[in-house]
Amino acid sequence: MRQHCPRPATGDATEPSQVTVDQLREAEQITPIVSVQNRYNLTDRASEDVLEHCEQRGITFIPWLPVAPMTRGGAADSLTAVANRLHATPTQVTLAWLLHRSPVMLPIPGTSSQAHLEENVAAASLRLDVDDYEQLAAA
Ligand SMILES: NC(=O)c1ccc[n+]([C@@H]2O[C@H](COP(=O)([O-])OP(=O)(O)OC[C@H]3O[C@@H](n4cnc5c(N)ncnc54)[C@H](OP(=O)(O)O)[C@@H]3O)[C@@H](O)[C@H]2O)c1
Repeated sequence: MRQHCPRPATGDATEPSQVTVDQLREAEQITPIVSVQNRYNLTDRASEDVLEHCEQRGITFIPWLPVAPMTRGGAADSLTAVANRLHATPTQVTLAWLLHRSPVMLPIPGTSSQAHLEENVAAASLRLDVDDYEQLAAA
């Protein structure tokens, strides 16, 4: 889905999951880190500091649970408004927001449905403007 993946995975690189910045720094002293998988989505950005560290170090950040359950009313409303304006689905806007968030972001949404797979791939072509991005980030 991502066109500018910073570094390809290699056999001798490590890809830790659900790590803190301190753990990541420690791991980097021991072995090359090619990617990190932490939970991250529009409504759960607790790993923002890990994402920022990955950006500084050029490490691919794979957000798990990228298609977030919209549990907060504000987020759901903003998502629906932006999706309607762009003639897209809320899931596509969620994925587009992640791709807009960082050049090291590599969402790999899980699905058991071909229709959802096609919808999710098409989200890579969706362009959010700054206002859309900020509205969603603030929701
Ligand atoms: N490192 C870790 O600890 C960890 C933990 C969990 C997951 N992961 C990885 O993270 C990736 C994604 O995780 P995930 O599958 O748990 O979460 P996810 O991709 O955020 O969500 C998957 C759910 O979203 C639904 N979905 C997907 N596309 C949709 C669409 N266009 N419209 C509506 N619903 C849609 C799927 O239902 P349908 O099947 O009906 O489409 C499925 O129920 C996977 O590669 C997984 O291996 C890593």
